[in-house]
Amino acid sequence: MASVLIVGGEGRAHALGWKLAQSPLVEQIYFAPGNGGTGAVGENLPIEVNDLSGLLKFAKKTKIDLTVVSPEQPLVDGIVDLFEAAGLPIFGPSAKAAMIEGSKVFSADFMLRHNIPHPASTPVSTLAEAKDYIKNRSPKDYVIKADGLAAGKGVIVPKAQAEAETALIKIMQKSILGEAGRQIVFQERLRGQEVSAFALSDGQKIIMLPFVQDHKQVFDGDRGPNTGGMGAYGPLPFMTSQLAERIKTEIMQPAIDGMRADGTPYRGLLYGGLFITEVGEPKAIEFNCRFGDPECQVLMMLVDEDLYPILMGCAQGNLTKDSIKLKTGSAAIVCLASKGYPGTAETGYEVKGLDKIKDPNVMIFHAGDKKENGKVITSAGRVLGVTAYGKDLKGALSKAYAQIGPKGIHFEHMHFRKDIGFRVLG
Ligand code: AMP
Ligand code: GLY
Repeated sequence: MASVLIVGGEGRAHALGWKLAQSPLVEQIYFAPGNGGTGAVGENLPIEVNDLSGLLKFAKKTKIDLTVVSPEQPLVDGIVDLFEAAGLPIFGPSAKAAMIEGSKVFSADFMLRHNIPHPASTPVSTLAEAKDYIKNRSPKDYVIKADGLAAGKGVIVPKAQAEAETALIKIMQKSILGEAGRQIVFQERLRGQEVSAFALSDGQKIIMLPFVQDHKQVFDGDRGPNTGGMGAYGPLPFMTSQLAERIKTEIMQPAIDGMRADGTPYRGLLYGGLFITEVGEPKAIEFNCRFGDPECQVLMMLVDEDLYPILMGCAQGNLTKDSIKLKTGSAAIVCLASKGYPGTAETGYEVKGLDKIKDPNVMIFHAGDKKENGKVITSAGRVLGVTAYGKDLKGALSKAYAQIGPKGIHFEHMHFRKDIGFRVLG
């Protein structure tokens, strides 16, 4: 029987651990560091995700059979290279392959070289060049992206030229994003449906997971500042099998083939951020080197087979399947956030009503909370995600919403979006 180490403490990490715990092959799950909910699935360790040597030491000592890395930073920092050098199986891309998310300049160039449909992209490294670029353009025609990892704050979709200019000065002159903003990329602005695509890969083959949409903005109607994600749902009712096949063969498989051809084979989960343009053309706006959060929670509710051998196959470069069994219904997640999120969050409140959840098709995936004296206490912006499975999207969403409120799950000053799914349900 296997033991698994999940690196992470977000809702995504909880969902991955929850799914893997159901495997008949898995005996023990560890989370580093986990959160206020993961203790119900495994053991939380006092090791942070950026303590790569601490993680390696633990995995060696405990003879961990498979390590699964949830967030991007340790991947970009080389955790996979470190574990592989020690002969330990680990799910995720190497540091070089994780560059696909770590640098927007790299990813734009990669898509161009490998004929992956994408919006026109122009990298720029000085403020003077950037000002020159926006001078004769309508701000409605482009978006601005900081090159490096910027925790969701690196993309500006300007409404007016003055807003674009202020953002450029903040990023390129005042360095508010640090190194991440040393270079920027201008990208042609696309319009249409945004879709997240997920492919599991062993470096060669891919297994596509369902397509999901998330809501990044904090307020109803997709207004307000961007967050990590306030809710998500899938599969998507407008996704035809023809469009799904095009995304697989024109975007996701070419990305895996391109990484291999470039000498940096990509193993792990490849997340494609896509637009289906108004004329129905799929285009990639970015790649991420890990599952989406909270999209992963939705996916884990939909997968209907043992995930352990599949993740192990990806890690060891010998995936034996090309598809995964899925449930026939839909899943949705509604994230509950602390006051102030996505700015500075007010935390330290008890999460109440967790004991009232009895429906086996409802899962609470914890994120920004911790357990203290038997109580679950809020500790960050996104506290938890109420996730539900139903026969269709409407059913899944109403089941999720039914759990939230004074008679269900609640905490002081919590806020959440009331309109998750409106883009497809109206
Ligand atoms: P990202 O951090 O790259 O996922 O971008 C954040 C958000 O900015 C995306 O979810 C889109 O809504 C928007 N965005 C990014 N690139 C583009 C683009 N080329 N055209 C239109 N919107 C974009
Ligand atoms: N939910 C968006 C992301 O994980 O990047």
